Amino acid sequence: MSRTIFVNGAFVAEEDGKISVFDRGFLFADGIYEVTAVIDGRMLDNDLHIARLERSLGEISIPMPMAKERIVEIQTELVRRNNLREGVIYLQVTRGVADRDFGYAEAIEPSFIGFTQAKKIVDTASVRDGVAVDVADDPRWARRDIKTVMLLGQVLAKKHAKARGFHEAWFVEDGHVTEGASSTAYIVSKEGVIVTRQNSHAVLPGCTRRALQAVAEEQGLTIEERRFTLDEAYDAREVFLTSASSLVTPIIRVAQRSIGDGKPGPITRRLQAAYLELARTQTAPIL
Ligand code: PDD
Repeated sequence: MSRTIFVNGAFVAEEDGKISVFDRGFLFADGIYEVTAVIDGRMLDNDLHIARLERSLGEISIPMPMAKERIVEIQTELVRRNNLREGVIYLQVTRGVADRDFGYAEAIEPSFIGFTQAKKIVDTASVRDGVAVDVADDPRWARRDIKTVMLLGQVLAKKHAKARGFHEAWFVEDGHVTEGASSTAYIVSKEGVIVTRQNSHAVLPGCTRRALQAVAEEQGLTIEERRFTLDEAYDAREVFLTSASSLVTPIIRVAQRSIGDGKPGPITRRLQAAYLELARTQTAPIL
C-alpha cells in the first residue's frame, strides 16, 4: 500500500509526489531536515525537533516554510493518514527551485516535504542487546550543529562501518570523539558519571540528548558535558548512543574493544527505561 506524503502544500500518494530537478536541495544539498520518532502513535520530543528545524533554517537563511503550528498539524495528519503507530516522521525544507547558480535570490520560496516511515524503534535487537561502533576520522564540514541534508560523510562512514560488521561509526577529531554518524555519543566513567560532548559547532545538538538530561537528573544521575577521548571510551564502564530513531542504544564494543563485560550496563538500562516511560506519557496519542 502506498504512503500518503506531503509535498509543497498537498497530501499526495507517494508515487505522485514530485520535486523539480532544479530544486537546490537536489543540486547543492541546500536544505535542512528533521526526524521525529513516533511510538504508540505519539510524537516524541517534537517541540525540540521543530525548534531545531527553525534554528537550522535560520543559520542558513532559509525562511520557515510556514508557522510551527501548521507544521505540527501536517505531521499529525501524516501520522493519521498513514496509521503510523511506530516509526519516524521525516521533514525536509530546501531553499527552493531556481536555475543552477551558487548565488541565490532572496525571494525563492522554500520547498517543504514530509513523509512517514513505519519501523520498529522500541523492541529492536540493537536496543535489547547493544551494538558495536566503528571509529573513523570525522570527514565533515565545520558547522555540524546545522542539520543539513549534506550527509555524504555520514553515508560513506556508515556504509563502510556496516560492511565491517558495525552498526554505527563514531567520528574522531583531534583525538576526541565528536559524535556518531547519526547519533550522539556517551560514555559512563568508572565513577558512574555520564559524559557527553558539550554542544558547539562540532556536533548536532541532539534532541534525545536534551530530553535525556532531564531524565538523568530525575534519576539522580549526573551528565558531565565535555570532550572525551577514544581511550576513555575503551576504558569506560558503559557506552551508549542516542538518536530519535534509536532512543537509548547500548554500545557493547568500540572498534575491537569490548566495553565492560560486553553486555549493556545498568545505567544504560535505567536511562532506557526512564526515557521510554517519559516518551509514553509526555504527549497525547494521535491515533
Ligand atoms: N540523526 N548527531 C547526528 C550527526 C545525527 O544525525 C543525529 C540524528 C543525532 C541525534 O539527534 P536526535 O537525538 O535529535 O535525533 C546526533 C537522525 C536520527 C537521522 O539523521 O536520521
